[in-house]
Amino acid sequence: MDRILEPELMDDADQARAYAEADFEEPNRLFVELFRDKCPAYPGKGAMLDLGCGPGDIVLRLAHAFPRSRVDGVDGSAAMLRFAESALSTAGLDNRVRFIQGMLPELALPEDRYQAIVSNSLLHHLHRPEVLWQTICRFGDDGAQVLVMDLSRPQTPERAMEIVEAYAGEEPLVLKTDFYNSLRAAFEPAEIRLQLEKAGLGSLQVAAVSDRHLAVWGRLPTS
Ligand SMILES: C[S@@+](CC[C@H](N)C(=O)[O-])C[C@H]1O[C@@H](n2cnc3c(N)ncnc32)[C@H](O)[C@@H]1O
Repeated sequence: MDRILEPELMDDADQARAYAEADFEEPNRLFVELFRDKCPAYPGKGAMLDLGCGPGDIVLRLAHAFPRSRVDGVDGSAAMLRFAESALSTAGLDNRVRFIQGMLPELALPEDRYQAIVSNSLLHHLHRPEVLWQTICRFGDDGAQVLVMDLSRPQTPERAMEIVEAYAGEEPLVLKTDFYNSLRAAFEPAEIRLQLEKAGLGSLQVAAVSDRHLAVWGRLPTS
């Protein structure tokens, strides 16, 4: 099926609340496991950046997993960042974690360069997906570790609906609708390989990591 765009930002208050309160335990745990597995060159300390961090759960998980890291999360949605700040206020990590409001690609960040750049479920929101890869190149240190995970577009609308029912059958309608629209807006692995080639990131790897997720990982080139 063809890609159908959805709005980039999740800045509606009800939408942000439904997302922040949903159960993403399984994919978010998978994300941190993938980072440990696929990004061994990250030295455990140094600055990490999460692009499109939403309510910040993955930022906080990474900060817990790497106790000597510093982690910045950036998102364009003030509604999402309110949930991120609220989670941070009880996490005891405010000396190592910052949330910043900003829109890709026009970002102003507190660090010039990051030793690891990650992103989960942002790519399918972007109307111009190349801005993700450009941003990674702009803010990634030489040899920085990269991990991007996202939904993979199913072959048919019927398969997208099956996935929604299997993984979000009991969730509120607003979340199920978002999930369905996200599956239809997502990319196929071959499309992402093309994006990476165009961005000069052809050395990054792309593979399916679950029945509905794909991941892109590797190291940025060294100059
Ligand atoms: C599906 S959510 C994923 C949130 C988080 N990464 C997670 O895994 O829970 C996508 C997030 O990307 C943000 N976003 C979309 N386009 C953006 C852009 N151009 N710049 C900054 N944030 C953006 C949305 O506001 C939303 O919070």
